[in-house]
This record gives sequence, C-alpha cells and structure tokens, in this order.
Amino acid sequence: MRILAIETSCDETAIAIAEFTGPKTSPRISVLSNIVSSQIAVHRKFGGVVPNLARREHEKNLVPILRGALKETKMYKVSGIKYPVLSKRIQNTKYKILDTILAREPELKQQFKKYILSLPKPEIDAVAVTYGPGLAPALWVGVNFARALSVLWNKPLIPVNHMAGHFYSSLLQNEKSGYRIENIRFPALALLVSGGHTEIVEAKQHGAWKIVGATRDDAAGEAFDKVARILGLSYPGGPEISKEALKKGKKIKITLPRPMMNSKDNDFSFSGLKTAVLYLVRDLGRTKTKKLRPHIAKEFQNAVVDVLVKKTIRAAKAFKAKTILLGGGVAANHELRKRLEANLKKELPNTKYLIPNTRMTGDNALMIAIAAHFVGKKKAWNKVHADANVRLAR
Ligand code: KG4
Ligand code: ZN
Repeated sequence: MRILAIETSCDETAIAIAEFTGPKTSPRISVLSNIVSSQIAVHRKFGGVVPNLARREHEKNLVPILRGALKETKMYKVSGIKYPVLSKRIQNTKYKILDTILAREPELKQQFKKYILSLPKPEIDAVAVTYGPGLAPALWVGVNFARALSVLWNKPLIPVNHMAGHFYSSLLQNEKSGYRIENIRFPALALLVSGGHTEIVEAKQHGAWKIVGATRDDAAGEAFDKVARILGLSYPGGPEISKEALKKGKKIKITLPRPMMNSKDNDFSFSGLKTAVLYLVRDLGRTKTKKLRPHIAKEFQNAVVDVLVKKTIRAAKAFKAKTILLGGGVAANHELRKRLEANLKKELPNTKYLIPNTRMTGDNALMIAIAAHFVGKKKAWNKVHADANVRLAR
C-alpha cells in the first residue's frame, strides 16, 4: 500500500509518501519522499507558536511541498499511463465539492486550483492526515487539504492521531540501503514526550492503547520551553537548553526538585520544577544567572531526565513490557536517549528498546504514514474532522 501522509498539527508543515509491502505487522517500507518544513523562524520572535500564524504558513506551504514530494517520487515519469478524462458533469460536481472544502482556506484554494487540479492522478492508495491532537486552526488546514485531495483523486482518507505517529516513529530504523521497520513485541510501553504531551502508553496490541500515566500539569517539552525563556534562551527551548548544558561555566551547588519521581503512580508533574528555576533565577539576579546558565540548564535537564527514566523503567517492570519505545520532540534530547538506554541495559537487559532516528523525533509526516499503515482506518472524506483534544485512548 502506498500512502501519502500530511501533518500540520503544530508548527511543521510535512508531507511524506511511503510504500508498505509484505506482511501487515512486519512490513518492508520504502520512503519515496519525506519533507518537513519548519516554521520556527516565524514563531521565534513571539517566544512560542502563534496558532493563526501557523495556520497561514501551512496554507502557504502545503501545495509547494506536495509538488516537491510528487516530483521526488518521480511518479509522473511512468510512461504509457492514460488518465481517464472526466465527463464535464463529474468534473463540475467535483469542483463544487472542492470549492466547499477549501472555502475557509482561500490562499490554499487558489494554489490548489492553479497547480494541483491539472496534475495527473498519482499512484497512491490512500491519503493519511493528522486530525488531532494539536492546534485546531493548524489541524484544519491539513485536514481540508487532505479531504480535497481525496475527492480530486478518488482516494480513501485515513485520519491519524498525532500521538500514534509519535508512538510508531521509533519503528523506522536506518539500513544500508534505506530504511527498515522494526517489529514490536507486545505488550509494549511507550514514553511519549512532546511539547504538548507527556504520557506513558501501554499497548497490548497494535492500536490497543491505554494511557497509564501522564503529566498533571506541564508537558516535558513545555517545561523545556518555559525554562529556556526564564533563562533568556530562545524558542524552542529543548534544543537550546541541551546546547547550553554542554557549555563550560561557573558552578555552585544547586539542587532542583525531581517532582513525583518516587510516587507510586506513573504520572508526572513539571510545573513545580519550572517554578523552582524561576525562584532560583530571581534570587541569583541577572549577572549571576548569566554566568551560571550552563550549570542551571544542565541541572534542569538532569532533573527532567531523572524523572522520565526512573518512572519509565518502573512502569516497564510493572507492565512486564517486552518492548519500550521512545517518541516525541523531547526524544531528540541526547541526555534522555543516553540515560534511558544505559539504565534499560542495566535493569531490563532482555527488553527490546526502540529509540527514534533523530529525524523522526520532531513532528513529521512519515510517522503519520507508518501509523496509518499499522492502525489506520479508511474513511470517506466527509467523515474526517479535526479534533484538537483527541486522546490516544481513555
Ligand atoms: O513532538 P514535537 O515536535 O511537537 C509537539 O507535538 O509538541 O515536540 C516539540 C517539543 C518542544 O517543546 C521542544 O522544546 C522539545 O520538543 N524538544 C526538545 C529537544 N528538541 C525538541 N526538548 C529537549 N531536548 C531536545 N533536544
Ligand atoms: Zn508532536
């Protein structure tokens, strides 16, 4: 099955085209195209993602990215294929539907008419799209674009939960000649850490998810972003803090709290840790904070990593997990990757551990295509809606 996937849940506009062959639960993958366009430069001056700006950027970028993706796959080089000429009546009905679908995205509609309508139908089997969770205005652009493509090309639509994408992102592993998909041994346990979510998810089977732990306040990525701002670092805070933590600087004795590290549940809380940094910085004053910044960044990062690692291993033991997966933007954090791996080797040497390729940690559409392959359900275009607050499971 060849899937064209679209992701616009936050500040990345992404399209991927991937083909899955072989057995459904242990497929081979060939990645025909995987484009991610980041809007970081647009949002940075506001210190975070501005939903309506994100929406406008998606509207502007989707068509050029789709054209780039289709070009990359060289789908149109196949000669001898005849594309059916639509009767005027069918054509008119389709165009009317397209007008309705893209009514709220005038710029996208204009580009769609100019560049996409005339394209021959690509050889794909379905269009997958992230329908939530995420920022509603951003999600809708992707969903409407996917609906329009589904109508134009007569292809089924597969709505995909963004967190399912992060769940499956670590299955894609590098191979000499490209990529391969790893198997999951069930039950599996995933630590999903992004800007909006921090969850421990148990899966007894593909798609049989249960959120067994979650943050009670800020997500881990959100804590990185907020603490970065307190320390005078730019957005997004995660990569800035981990870079800062590697620098040399003055040191003093600082101990930040490790909230809920020893609680018996699988939940997290990061807002107290952020407040502790805020008070520390207030007490130190500007000059001292600047000198101590690498040290504070390192201690903060260690505090977050300590909690995440300890609770993930605890949960893995309790749920007798056979596979542990890591996913989400914060999975790019070097310290987290290193420490989780080292501790798992020591404490659960027989448990399979899958860590995502660093290109797969942030938002991308390839993870959406993979999730669509494993758990996607094909739907008619008018049955797919954005849902900003949808959860992976109850
Ligand atoms: O998954 P993602 O790209 O978007 C959401 O779905 O939220 O995650 C973005 C989050 C941001 O909060 C960002 O600061 C964090 O991931 N992040 C990191 C690192 N790279 C990105 N956090 C810690 N260390 C990193 N290296
Ligand atoms: Zn994400």
